[in-house]
Amino acid sequence: MLSKSQAKVFFLGGTALFSAIFLGLTIDTHRQMAERTNEQNLTESVIRGKKIWEDQNCMGCHTILGEGAYYAPDLTKVVDKRGEEWIRIFMRDPQAMFPGERKMVKYDFNDQEMDDIIAFLKWVGEIDTNGWPPEPNIKTDTIPGTRNVNAGPILPEAAEQPAVAEAPAKFKSLCVACHQVNGKGGNVGPSLDGVANRFNREYLVKWLRDPQAVKKGTTMPKLPLNDQEVESIADYLMTLK
Ligand code: HEC
Ligand code: HEC
Repeated sequence: MLSKSQAKVFFLGGTALFSAIFLGLTIDTHRQMAERTNEQNLTESVIRGKKIWEDQNCMGCHTILGEGAYYAPDLTKVVDKRGEEWIRIFMRDPQAMFPGERKMVKYDFNDQEMDDIIAFLKWVGEIDTNGWPPEPNIKTDTIPGTRNVNAGPILPEAAEQPAVAEAPAKFKSLCVACHQVNGKGGNVGPSLDGVANRFNREYLVKWLRDPQAVKKGTTMPKLPLNDQEVESIADYLMTLK
């Protein structure tokens, strides 16, 4: 048992110690804030985008940096994940991209407002968040061309069956929003079943690099893919016979 005066010292000492730690961490955070948020990139457009974000209450459904409501996907890294073009097309008519799913409001933003929203989301995505959000543990059995990693070990009989090619990550996050494979995915663009019979690999690589260059006026956007991603997606497409 502590005596009354020991308890007092314990309480005051503890309060002082933890206040000091709290203050120290707060100062440390403020010291890093400008750098970690890339304060120099806070343009007028980003600021207008933030205002639209607030006025339209996007937080009523979405989170950024973990804050907001959990009805709709977190948008912290959405520009990285989807690309600017995809977001533009999606926002113009969200239902067309995900028919029959949860509803995102159709806002009639003009070009400038759209630029501002994207500038804001891009800025948010570049904040150094110490690795947050972590890679999601997505259940992959609902995504075409993937195997549920939680489904347990592959049984010997199963392993002998011809392997279904694993769709590259970018395919699962970008392409299925607009294209179906095996009846799963969006229907903005044509189904990709049998695409290997319609095009050769060389054509597909060109198409993925820049659809506009192949077919002027096409509504398929140029997506943010690096060379390696283009190659691996082309390899995967060539398995869709
Ligand atoms: C009423 C709820 C609601 C509001 C308000 C809302 N959204 Fe959404 N949003 C959704 C839903 C639901 C989805 C997911 C669509 C789906 O999967 O069918 C979505 C998806 C998105 C996506 C694509 C995310 C991804 O990774 O696929 C973006 C970008 C987006 N919303 C931006 C916004 C912006 C910007 C605002 C405010 C101007 C906003 N949303 C307001 C419900 C909402
Ligand atoms: C925003 C929607 C959208 C996204 C995302 C998208 N596409 Fe498309 N894609 C389309 C549309 C629309 C067409 C039809 C274009 C046309 O014929 O002008 C198309 C056409 C194609 C075609 C030609 C198919 C055919 O039979 O004519 C291929 C191949 C293709 N897309 C592959 C992909 C791949 C791979 C990805 C992911 C890297 C992807 N697409 C992402 C909308 C999209």
